[in-house]
Amino acid sequence: SKNVAVMTSGGDAPGMNACVRAVVRAAIYHECKAFCVMEGYEGLVRGGKEYIKEMSWQDVRGLLAEGGTNIGTARCKAFRERPGRLQACQNMIEAGIDALIVCGGDGSLTGADLFRAEWPSLIKELLDTNRINQSQYHTYKHLNICGTVGSIDNDMATTDATIGAYSALARVCQAIDYIDATANSHSRAFVVEVMGRHCGWLALMAGIATSADYIMIPEKPSSSKGWKEQMCEIVSKHRSKGKRKTIVIVAEGAVTSELEPISSKEVRDELVKLGLDTRITTLGHVQRGGTAVAYDRILATLQGVEAVKAVLECTPDTPSPLIAVVENKIVRKSLVEAVQITKSVAEAIEEKNFDKAMDLRDSEFVE
Ligand code: F6P
Repeated sequence: SKNVAVMTSGGDAPGMNACVRAVVRAAIYHECKAFCVMEGYEGLVRGGKEYIKEMSWQDVRGLLAEGGTNIGTARCKAFRERPGRLQACQNMIEAGIDALIVCGGDGSLTGADLFRAEWPSLIKELLDTNRINQSQYHTYKHLNICGTVGSIDNDMATTDATIGAYSALARVCQAIDYIDATANSHSRAFVVEVMGRHCGWLALMAGIATSADYIMIPEKPSSSKGWKEQMCEIVSKHRSKGKRKTIVIVAEGAVTSELEPISSKEVRDELVKLGLDTRITTLGHVQRGGTAVAYDRILATLQGVEAVKAVLECTPDTPSPLIAVVENKIVRKSLVEAVQITKSVAEAIEEKNFDKAMDLRDSEFVE
């Protein structure tokens, strides 16, 4: 039996708590000891009983629906450098942890993969500098790591959904429904800015679910002149047919094909030129809060259970798994590959190679 630790890292997402609950309980079910690392990688670097806590079945009671992450999360600078990871390695060995499950976004999972790859050299250094003894060195020779993806952005390759994305989407749609009522009353236009970092999934799906007039996402930019003409034409057409409200959704990472960011103010100015009384609503962190929708509770639970099975089954030669959902089935994918494809999509966008970015996104599910 192993000592299995779970941590949440990066931006919080609804469903992370459900994932922690599932990991703790599945680990105990499999006769392992379960631990939570508090405050993400920061907790690993700080170590000790305050940051690496053993958990009982009851300790995670009531977590299933709760938003955010009760064990804390952080974007940790120290873990990005080798000395930070060396300290984290020592703290884990001192706490007796031999398997780690990370629930986080692509940055956090890149860190997890690097940590596992570096692990042999880290423990060698700890042995050579007398920070661990021979017996600890042999007991903790291999670290099993597994990733589950928690992020509202739904921006990770090789999985259909990330934990939190559908809760955030529900929140965005609810907010736009509210805006609809007031927009319709005053016959106004609203520019609604939604989160998603470099990924347009939230904006696109919210646009479909609320029948927005126009949607701007980073993956499908048009020239700075192009979007203005197209948006104004569509909005005018809708208005000419008697529509009393106009909703334009702008993803926070929306850019032109020249890669200039599109600001909500710029969009508003164009709508004002059409004679529309226009307001801007930036939804901000409201999108990340609140309880998890049923889908995220289920996804996080199934993935947490599978993550524990994966770390118990992995051998030193098995590549670190990422627990994904593909066509409604919980499956194991390669963590390195998922992170690599996600990075390549971002790079293709930076190189203005939008077709390549779309091809990569499309090809990620083709075996
Ligand atoms: O990755 C989740 C996310 O909410 C993004 O959509 C957004 O760009 C970012 O985090 C905001 O980060 P912070 O919480 O640091 O403001």
